[in-house]
Amino acid sequence: MNTNTMNVSLQAVVRIVREAAQLMRVTDFDVMQKGACTNIVTSTDIAVQQYLCENLHILLPHAGFICEESDFFDTSSSQVWIIDPIDGTANFARGHQDCAISVALVSDGTPVLAVVYSLFSNVLYVAEAGKGAFRNGLSMKVSCRGLAESMACGGFSLYDKRMSPLCWRVFEELFYQCNDFRCIGSAALGLSALAAGMYDMFFEIRLSPWDYAAAQLLIVEAGGVVTTLQGKPLTYDKPQAVVAANGVENHRLLLQVIEKYQR
Ligand code: IPD
Ligand code: CA
Ligand code: CA
Repeated sequence: MNTNTMNVSLQAVVRIVREAAQLMRVTDFDVMQKGACTNIVTSTDIAVQQYLCENLHILLPHAGFICEESDFFDTSSSQVWIIDPIDGTANFARGHQDCAISVALVSDGTPVLAVVYSLFSNVLYVAEAGKGAFRNGLSMKVSCRGLAESMACGGFSLYDKRMSPLCWRVFEELFYQCNDFRCIGSAALGLSALAAGMYDMFFEIRLSPWDYAAAQLLIVEAGGVVTTLQGKPLTYDKPQAVVAANGVENHRLLLQVIEKYQR
């Protein structure tokens, strides 16, 4: 098992993330557009990312960074921080509470440490490889609900709407087969809540490594399953689909529904 071999203290990372989150209390942030009009970034995203990078660099000077709001991917080191300064920026910019900082440390291609922190909901998710996953200090496990009782969560390929029709079809079928469906606008929080047993399935056709790297470790440590569309382990080199569930049976059924509409 790949463990946190660099011996970075989880507490130190949590402290840095909590400090960075205080920057989200500023209310007079600027909102800028990135490419398509659905894709926005605020001055707070930039400030949070800068704070995280400066302080995580002090903690682990040789580690690289993959951050959403950067023009560079520095992956020359075998240890890389993967950071989404605010996951759910559209929620944040409108005053919705579902937004979070997501930080993962990936060592030789495997996440070894994860922190997802939602300041406005006061929820902190953490995990270290081989040591379990925790929500506000309490050990968490995925649910054991079957398909009919499941609540599914996901998104509609907001930044590339050409892929949205597949998502609508998949979620429509799932909606009739399971209990209910949610789209909360933060993939990191949706996936983290799955790890805590609050959702039972999750699908997005196109997420980036900073959306899922931390939550992926939470899910694995909480006993869930998370893969690509091909049922393969997620990688951190490109955007990809994320298919997650509370166990192998729901994961298999979810993949089956997706495959049906991909043809
Ligand atoms: C987005 C959110 C959203 C998901 C998008 C992500 P951002 O991240 O997680 O829920 O549907 O695919 O890109 O842009 O708010 O960091
Ligand atoms: Ca994101
Ligand atoms: Ca973001």
